[in-house]
Amino acid sequence: MTAENPTTIRRHAPAKINLWLQVLGIRHDGYHELRTMFQSIALHDTLTVRAERGPFRLTCDDPACPADSTNLVWRAAAELWTALGRRGAPRDVAVHLVKRIPVQAGLGGGSSDAAATLRALAALWRANDARVREVARSLGADVPYFLEGGTVLGLDRGDLLFPLADLPLAWVVLVLPDFGVSTKEAFGWWDGRRGDQPHLLNDLQAPVVERHPEIGRIVRRLDRAGARPSAMSGSGSAVFGLFERRVDAARAALALGGRGRRTVLTRTANRSAYQRLAGIPAHRINLPFAPRGSGHS
Ligand code: C5P
Repeated sequence: MTAENPTTIRRHAPAKINLWLQVLGIRHDGYHELRTMFQSIALHDTLTVRAERGPFRLTCDDPACPADSTNLVWRAAAELWTALGRRGAPRDVAVHLVKRIPVQAGLGGGSSDAAATLRALAALWRANDARVREVARSLGADVPYFLEGGTVLGLDRGDLLFPLADLPLAWVVLVLPDFGVSTKEAFGWWDGRRGDQPHLLNDLQAPVVERHPEIGRIVRRLDRAGARPSAMSGSGSAVFGLFERRVDAARAALALGGRGRRTVLTRTANRSAYQRLAGIPAHRINLPFAPRGSGHS
C-alpha cells in the first residue's frame, strides 16, 4: 500500500521467458509433464488496485485485452474471494491494468497479472501466503512461478518450483510476430508428433514452427545476429535472443524489426530485481514450494 493513499495499491507484473522447456509426456489430468527453466525479464504490465464501493470492476488500457470475467485478473479476484469464504461475486475493488506484455506470446503476461492481482488483494483482504499459493495453482500452471520470479526450475505442470542461482544479467531481444499462439493448441500439436522431435531448447518449438514457419525464421535470424541462445518462449509466438552486450542486442533488435513483427529490447531480472519490481517484501522469499499434500506451506 502506498503511504499517500492506503486504499490504492500499485503492482508491476513482469514477464518471463523459458530458457529451455522439455515436454516429457501427457499426465492423467490432461496436462503435460514439463521440465523448464523460467527466467524473469524486466518487461512488465502494471496493475492499480483501488478499494471502492460497488461490484468488482476491471479496466484495461489496451482495447484488445478482455476486461471481463475471462481475464485472469478477474478470475484471480473471484477465486481468492471464494477461497476466503466470501459469498457471491467479488466487490468493493477496481483494478486498472496497463498492458505491455503481448498476449498469446508465451511470455506469461496473463499469469503474471493474475499473480500480481493475488498479491495486491491478499494485502487488502488479509489472505495468508498459503491461501494465495493454493489459488495461484488453481488459476494456471504458470501462475505460481510469478509469486516468486527470478531463475527457477519448474517440474510437474511447471508449477513445482525450485529456485536456481541467479544467472549473469543478459540483454534480451524479443521478436513478436503479428500472430499469437494458443498454449492449448501448441500442446495439442506436440501430441501429434510425439517421438518425432528434433533436439531444440524448446520441445514445443518444432510443432509450432510447422504451423508458423515465421517463428523458425526469426530464431535463425537471431542466431545469425549473435544471440546465445535464441529460441521460442513457452508455447510462442514470441522468440527471444540473449546478448551479453547491449550494443549487440540493440543492433539485432533494429535488424529484426520490420513488417509483421515488433521487437522489444529488455533485460533479464534476477530474483531480487523481480521482487523489487513486483513489490514483494524481501523476507517473503519462500521457495522451494513444498510438494502438494506434504502438509507444509
Ligand atoms: O494452465 P494454463 O491454463 O495456463 O494452461 C493452458 C493450457 O495449456 C491447458 O489447458 C493445457 O491444455 C495446456 N498445458 C498443458 N500442460 C502444461 C501446461 C499447460 O497441457 N504443463
